Amino acid sequence: MALIEPGVGFVDIASGQLKGSTNRYVKTFRDLDGLYEDEAAFAAIVARRADDVAYEVTDYKPSANAGDMIIGVTRMEPGKVGNEYYLTRGHIHARPNRPEMYYGESGLGVMLLESPSGEIRTVEIGPRTMCYVPPYWIHRSVNVGPDPLVMTFAYPADSGQDYDIIAKAGGMKSRIVDDGKGGWKAIDNAAYRPRPQALVDAIMAMKD
Ligand SMILES: [Fe+2]
Repeated sequence: MALIEPGVGFVDIASGQLKGSTNRYVKTFRDLDGLYEDEAAFAAIVARRADDVAYEVTDYKPSANAGDMIIGVTRMEPGKVGNEYYLTRGHIHARPNRPEMYYGESGLGVMLLESPSGEIRTVEIGPRTMCYVPPYWIHRSVNVGPDPLVMTFAYPADSGQDYDIIAKAGGMKSRIVDDGKGGWKAIDNAAYRPRPQALVDAIMAMKD
């Protein structure tokens, strides 16, 4: 077995990037079409900011092998579409029994989690908060604060991401919106369609 060399990166809070990363990808506002309930408000933002970066990920990926690990940093813009806070597209791991860890560096976020059968959990993430995303949970980050949300993360290198699971259900079961008091609350997503039990069972049975 060939050894992999140790890696090191620097979490640059100001830029929200991992210095020393091997990969970077960005999502612009144009890329986030269809995620938000208020389509008119979203269209207005795209008209002004279509090519601006809504969130970005810089990561260090030694390999995609089972047993290896990907580490990185994500940075999200603050803001709202209508009353709904900016969010990431979200996913379940393509190998759904893989977990993930998020750690708050700056800003205030919410990790929105949904089980395949539609149970919802929320975890508020501030600086120095560590959030464990267990296997089999769909997860999405939401920036509920006034500043950029910067988090570090780590997950098994062979996890993969399945984004369609959310789109096929009409979105996640909950939306994270302004509570009118400077905070956030989770409300029902009217477009949500529960997954058929056979699909839930198939996902929960997936192992490697
Ligand atoms: Fe993930």
